[in-house]
Amino acid sequence: MPKNILITGGAGFIGSHVVRLMVEKYSNYNIYNLDKLTYAGNLENINDIKDKPNYHFIKADIVDSAEINKIIVENNITDILHLAAESHVDRSIESPLDFAMTNIIGTINLLNAAKNYWQKDYSAHRFYHISTDEVYGSLGSEGLFTELTSYDPHSPYSASKASSDHFVRAYHDTYGLQVVISNCSNNYGPNQFPEKLIPLCINNIIQEKPLPIYGDGKYTRDWLYVIDHARAIDEVFHFGKNGETYNIGGHNEWKNIDLVNLLCDIMDKKLNRTPGKSQELIKFVKDRPGHDLRYAIDASKIERDLGWKPSLQFSEGLEKTVDWYLENQSWTDAITHGSYMAYYEKHYLNR
Ligand code: NAD
Ligand code: DAU
Repeated sequence: MPKNILITGGAGFIGSHVVRLMVEKYSNYNIYNLDKLTYAGNLENINDIKDKPNYHFIKADIVDSAEINKIIVENNITDILHLAAESHVDRSIESPLDFAMTNIIGTINLLNAAKNYWQKDYSAHRFYHISTDEVYGSLGSEGLFTELTSYDPHSPYSASKASSDHFVRAYHDTYGLQVVISNCSNNYGPNQFPEKLIPLCINNIIQEKPLPIYGDGKYTRDWLYVIDHARAIDEVFHFGKNGETYNIGGHNEWKNIDLVNLLCDIMDKKLNRTPGKSQELIKFVKDRPGHDLRYAIDASKIERDLGWKPSLQFSEGLEKTVDWYLENQSWTDAITHGSYMAYYEKHYLNR
């Protein structure tokens, strides 16, 4: 069926891979990429598909409810894939209100616009909210997050995402909106903004700058290649059951320090440096407040019900990621000046 799909946050890291997949795979869908182009949004991320006839870009802020209503009506939007968010935990500790505005109020604005415009027949439309495993809080050394794990967010970022998830479920239960939610683990891959652990370390290794490891480095994350996440989003959007939640993860847990050591080994080979050279850059620094010890996803529901599985081994995905950053240093250079450097210096100075 032809559809007019609004994808929010499509100029960001994950959103750009989702937009590309949808534009290329479904020529009968019109894809409207709505993005405010904050520091994290970059149209370069989707430069390769910008001239496709089924792709359209709209610069807008999801916090502006009147504008959002207008866009949904004027473009006869049939479905929404909602990824736009403030996404960096460290920034949420410095400015929680920005996270409440975009992640909570922005999501409510989209829900309201969808509720009003689709009210004739909610069953013909879908609101898909892309969320995070951080809403579940922290695991100890054992166990996995399932779809039934209670919410227990600790950072302003995860609290804002948890709140938005609750609003999405409330619009399903109260008004009958057709919704699906997915909660994914840490993504990595091309086009990730270099404030996040993996691209930050790749960039610093290239420049021979310190690699800041928070606390003792034993914090654990479950890493998934971004294109595998985009594939999962495609499955959940088309085949996920109304009102349901799907956890998405990589079965791929790494302690931060082990991950950074592996990255150093890969980079030493790629840059023809003496083995062990990049590891000398590792610097243990002051911990992140409220730092969650461990995230790990039980993805058996999406595997069983929708037949999705990660396609890449971590070593393969990490090597592809390193290659992309080495081949696209101008992409990183263009965004790591000005306001980024001001953030970087303030955040890491005296840490
Ligand atoms: P990102 O920070 O790279 O991109 C966010 C995008 O949203 C940017 O293009 C930005 O310009 C846009 N945006 C921000 N505020 C906006 C506003 N008010 N109006 C319109 N657009 C706005 O984020 P990401 O890492 O690609 O994450 C995308 C989504 O996936 C988020 O909802 C995040 O919570 C979720 N998620 C991320 C991860 C991860 O590891 N990165 C894992 C699980 C879930
Ligand atoms: O789990 C999913 C989440 O993963 C997403 O919802 C978030 O949007 C995304 O940013 C990511 O959050 P994390 O906080 O896990 O990612 P980050 O890359 O910031 O940090 C990964 C781990 O590395 C974490 O334990 C903190 C640590 N870290 C991070 C940075 C930036 C360091 O040790 N040093 C650093 O400089």
